[in-house]
Amino acid sequence: MIFYDTVWALKRQSATIHLPFPPPLTPTPFPLALLLADPHHGGDRPQCLAEALALPLVEDSQAATLLLQFGPEGLELVKPNDPLLPGRLRVDFSARDFRRRLLHPGRELLVQAAKVRGCRQPLVIDATAGLGRDGFLLAAAGCRVRMIEVNPVVAALLTDGLERARNSPALAPTAGRIELVVGDAREQLPRLSEPPDVVFLDPMFPERTKSALVGQELRLLQLLDQKSCDPEALLPAALAVSSRKVVVKRPLKAGPLAALVPSYTRKGKAVRFDVYVGKGMENSSG
Ligand SMILES: C[S@@+](CC[C@H](N)C(=O)[O-])C[C@H]1O[C@@H](n2cnc3c(N)ncnc32)[C@H](O)[C@@H]1O
Repeated sequence: MIFYDTVWALKRQSATIHLPFPPPLTPTPFPLALLLADPHHGGDRPQCLAEALALPLVEDSQAATLLLQFGPEGLELVKPNDPLLPGRLRVDFSARDFRRRLLHPGRELLVQAAKVRGCRQPLVIDATAGLGRDGFLLAAAGCRVRMIEVNPVVAALLTDGLERARNSPALAPTAGRIELVVGDAREQLPRLSEPPDVVFLDPMFPERTKSALVGQELRLLQLLDQKSCDPEALLPAALAVSSRKVVVKRPLKAGPLAALVPSYTRKGKAVRFDVYVGKGMENSSG
């Protein structure tokens, strides 16, 4: 149980919450909080993560509209007491359907679009990492993948999923080829220490019917602020650093990102990949 004074003190710690003063008599739920969970699941990680994300730490799941919590299967995002959203969002690279895709990464259209001839372990920057599925598939195909994710909550879920993958004998070799940087790709791309072979962009969770995410997960994710970054600005930033290819995932019927016409397009059933070929690659696209 949290007493009112504690709630107010915690609210004031959060940089993102602005409350009227004096405080209201009945505390309103936090928009997003971290649940101080059972010590068997998470140990001191809730405290560390709450500090890193500048989120209030609560003992009562009713105290937040959206909640991050450490459960027996890792970090998850939930919306407590919403009968319409009983699911949870977690990064799980060992999910059965995903594991099946990992068996044949070469069949993935993204992997084909990102292929660089004559380069066995290309460095791919997944500049909009999200929940990391596309980046993980690229790593399964042998690419060295550096993921960049701007949303700290999404990045925390992804970090947790990658950690579990590193501890799984079947997934560890793939996870070992992945690094995650938390930040805005528009700032991170010009700072890369090694020039990438490929930059991959998947800037939005568009309202597409055949999303890689199932409905509940997608709706939970949409409750986080995903719209603050200007997707149009990502493509010029990517084109400025990538010496070989920029690959952009688009909904089938959408126009090209930033109205820049791609060199060529690979079309799938639900999405397409627009490929921008860089200098010295005109005759060697995969
Ligand atoms: C559609 S999701 C990517 C999904 C990902 N391809 C996957 O397989 O899970 C887009 C992600 O890009 C992130 N994003 C948007 N703009 C960004 C930026 N400027 N820098 C880094 N990440 C960004 C969003 O926070 C979101 O998590």
